[in-house]
Amino acid sequence: MVRLGVNIDHVATLRQARRGREPDPIWAAVEAELGGADLITVHLREDRRHIQDRDLRLLRETVKVPLNLELAAVPEILRIACEVRPDQATLVPERRQEITTEGGLDVVRNERIVADAIRQLQGHGIRVAVFIDPDPQQIELSKAFGAEAVEIQTARYSEARNEAEVRERFAEVCESARYAHEKGLAVHMGHGLNYHNVRQIAAIPCVQELNIGHSIVSRAVFVGLRQAVAEMKRILEESRRR
Ligand code: PXP
Repeated sequence: MVRLGVNIDHVATLRQARRGREPDPIWAAVEAELGGADLITVHLREDRRHIQDRDLRLLRETVKVPLNLELAAVPEILRIACEVRPDQATLVPERRQEITTEGGLDVVRNERIVADAIRQLQGHGIRVAVFIDPDPQQIELSKAFGAEAVEIQTARYSEARNEAEVRERFAEVCESARYAHEKGLAVHMGHGLNYHNVRQIAAIPCVQELNIGHSIVSRAVFVGLRQAVAEMKRILEESRRR
């Protein structure tokens, strides 16, 4: 069965719009768990635009399912991660001007930084995934540096504008998933997945985890977070049964 990681960053985005107390991502995590989330995912960004240090610390104490922290490989955030000890860390690239994470981490160009970050996190008992583009070289280096998993980015797939593009980009992520699996890495995927385009991604047999945020939080505005998560979870289950 594919695990559903529910990214609750955008609950905090809404709170930060007023710099107030609500909606609280801690409450969101409880609702997501009640809806069937297998993991709770948050991204503590350097600019703290959504999740705050307080959120991460409280989530560590309250969340019952595994906690997955997305983070850039920078000293300040790595230090916080090693203190808080989420169950899993997903290394991502980060640029201040970006609206959301753009593309995977370039493990090839940032060899030393990524290798050191993986070692540091694992030294604190944290399982490490690396968020990468669907590219064999990125997979090989992630494996060489000892990561337990790769999260293959599905942004290009989710942005495809016609059927031919969807087919081509789906084949790309599928091929990468198979390759990473053959290399002995756990395979995660995420970015831009929604209630429609997730079906064929969830059906890829070697994919073990999907991290989904924006579409679930968007739907939650209308039906509530618990139900929005439950609906996504049902789709994942159906996709595997076929
Ligand atoms: N995976 C990673 C590594 C991400 O950075 C994000 C966005 O924070 C997601 C998954 C979730 O993407 P979306 O919000 O588009 O579902």
